[in-house]
Amino acid sequence: QQDPRIAGISSAIRVIPNFPKPGIMFQDITTMLLDTKAFKDTIDLFVERYRDKNISVVAGVEARGFIFGPPIALAIGAKFVPMRKPNKLPGEVISEEYSLEYGTDKMEMHVGAVEAGERALVIDDLIATGGTLCAAVKLLERVGVNVVECACVIELLGLKGRERLGDRPLFVLVNAT
Ligand code: PRP
Repeated sequence: QQDPRIAGISSAIRVIPNFPKPGIMFQDITTMLLDTKAFKDTIDLFVERYRDKNISVVAGVEARGFIFGPPIALAIGAKFVPMRKPNKLPGEVISEEYSLEYGTDKMEMHVGAVEAGERALVIDDLIATGGTLCAAVKLLERVGVNVVECACVIELLGLKGRERLGDRPLFVLVNAT
């Protein structure tokens, strides 16, 4: 039985064909942010799930994890830690390389943002191949953080992103193909 709020969230997400490249159906969450009910329902669903799980860190993945992470962090009394593209963070960082369709990319986190033993939620708007989320999880795990769960608004099915995360649980609101 699906939560009745999910349908409204799903229909507020716009799909734009052939962006950023031919053949890609881009899942655009910006239209959902314009729908005050859908945006609030999205945050509420995550907050309801994570409020009593002793989570001290919400780690948001650049760029759209920065939209959903902070309101969740504030509501559950956790800190927010940005997981950034390379050379954006000014302090000392640890970084994790991950593979893309062509080539590699890197994700960075400030040293000292989290402590060993903390409990984290990792959040992004969407999981496709899972490479991005996996890099964020690895960064946190390398410094001894326990990643309780990863959460996304949208899961693109068929790319096996969930498998790439291994045993780590993934919670999503909406499925897409
Ligand atoms: C998208 C999305 C995720 C990532 C998922 O970001 O917001 O962060 O791709 O893909 P994956 O599961 O295959 O790793 P995008 O590459 O568009 O970068 P942006 O958020 O900086 O726009």
